[in-house]
Amino acid sequence: MRRLVCETSLSAGQLVLPLFVRAGRKLRRPINAMPGVCQLSPDELLREASRAFALGVPGVLLFGIPDRKDARASGAYARKGIVQQTVRLLKKELPDLIVITDVCLCEYMSHGHCGLVRRDARGAHILNDATLPLLARTAASHAEAGADIVAPSDMMDGRVRAVRTELDRSGFPDTPILSYAAKFASAFYGPFREAAESTPQFGDRRSYQMDAANANEALREVALDIQEGADMVMVKPALAYLDILHRVKTTFGYPTAAYAVSAEFSMVKAAAARGWIDERAVTLESLLAMRRAGADVIITYAAGDAARWLRES
Ligand code: PBG
Repeated sequence: MRRLVCETSLSAGQLVLPLFVRAGRKLRRPINAMPGVCQLSPDELLREASRAFALGVPGVLLFGIPDRKDARASGAYARKGIVQQTVRLLKKELPDLIVITDVCLCEYMSHGHCGLVRRDARGAHILNDATLPLLARTAASHAEAGADIVAPSDMMDGRVRAVRTELDRSGFPDTPILSYAAKFASAFYGPFREAAESTPQFGDRRSYQMDAANANEALREVALDIQEGADMVMVKPALAYLDILHRVKTTFGYPTAAYAVSAEFSMVKAAAARGWIDERAVTLESLLAMRRAGADVIITYAAGDAARWLRES
């Protein structure tokens, strides 16, 4: 009877697994603060993606770690960049896997910021508008490699329109945009920055990511991205922002993704390792809560495990 009146469902088909790729072969470089998560060479990443896909996880979200970083993030939009190569490999070997690419510059920038930076006597400033063409080029290079969905995560203003225009112009009018629309400046990204080697070398991201105090502003951010052409919108982080997720879903009714970020994963792993919590129960309950709040899609480092647990249950 509980099942009969159950209001919310959770299935593997709603999960997306984030993966980190770097050059090499047979390479699995563990990320200290994220047990079980590794930087992977393309061949290993293909194995990881195949395993998740076989468990019913329909998609992956790719982040690249380039060999060299510079002040123009040239690795982000290189035709043979690490993400571009990996997308080609995945789409060749697993044509039905949904390959989503994170579109951002921070992993490719020598200074670790998501946009171009000018430094002068008053300090360092993000050059919002000058960054847009680089993001657009990055997204188009991912689409050209075969990405199914591009996901801009930089939080520059106007980037969704810039990406949409460039995709249309370069022959990819059908490639959808999943925008990180309400992305908060969050301490929950800490472990990710180790994984993606994208810690800002100076300052922080508060001039472009959102203030955790603001919910109405989050709705304005989402409205702007939809106006500019976003096909799906994301709220990030997830668990501490379920109110935002709920309001975004009820206000816009758009396909909505929640990103359960790195520290959400690390905290569960750390407490579980000490025997303080039940990893499986806590993970599935958290994912269910995100669904209840309004998420259609959940991006989570636990996608593979969750898919396996759901299959067993
Ligand atoms: C890059 C980006 C970040 C995350 C996804 N894309 C980090 C950041 O903004 O510093 C965080 C993901 C996570 O913590 O799992 N702009």
